[in-house]
Amino acid sequence: MPINTYVFDAYGTLFDVNAAAAQAAKEPAHTALAKVWPALARDWRRKQLEYSWLRAVAGRHCDFWQVTQDGLDWAMEAHGLDDAATRARLLALYRQLAAYPEAKDVLITLRGRGAKTAVLSNGSPKMLLEAATSAGLNMHLDALLSVEDVGVFKPHSKVYDLVCAHFGGTPKDVLFVSSNGWDAAGAAGYGFQTAWVNRAGEPVDRLYAKPHHILSDLTTIPEFI
Ligand code: LAC
Repeated sequence: MPINTYVFDAYGTLFDVNAAAAQAAKEPAHTALAKVWPALARDWRRKQLEYSWLRAVAGRHCDFWQVTQDGLDWAMEAHGLDDAATRARLLALYRQLAAYPEAKDVLITLRGRGAKTAVLSNGSPKMLLEAATSAGLNMHLDALLSVEDVGVFKPHSKVYDLVCAHFGGTPKDVLFVSSNGWDAAGAAGYGFQTAWVNRAGEPVDRLYAKPHHILSDLTTIPEFI
């Protein structure tokens, strides 16, 4: 049975999570970011994810917009930034992150070959719709699936259940694509076919499963058809 459903993680996979800090750092109103933005972006992302996992383990769910703000507040304090305008600008940019340059063509090619495409993300429905629309991807996606439907973050299996609940079929009919090694591992453990987009050349996560394929970007995904 060929893979007929292509499901993408959102943040870091389709959308460049560093783009908000990179953009704000170029703007005259936010010069304090110029020196620290790469470290700020890294810490923002790290805390955002840590808070998602901790809330999942503790059973204290809130939506991803809240952990995105909480992660930013931690990172800004860590880097000595205390400017409400910079905070607001970073958050506004996060809602309209740029997509990686190859993302749109990959989605168009997949659908042109008869496959279904979707996002499965921690992001809230509103965040996902805004990001997919502003990046011009929404019309090339059959579904935006959000963890808000199950009230727990990845890699809980209830999140991965959303794919077959939406499209039918079985997990082995699905290629799940993520740039987050832990998410690709979680999805592999669940039973999806998986591709880890390892843009940063990181080691494989030592978890309960390993991704089936390791790619450097999204361009070769249509070859799985
Ligand atoms: C997401 C996070 C994990 O989009 O990047 O689900």
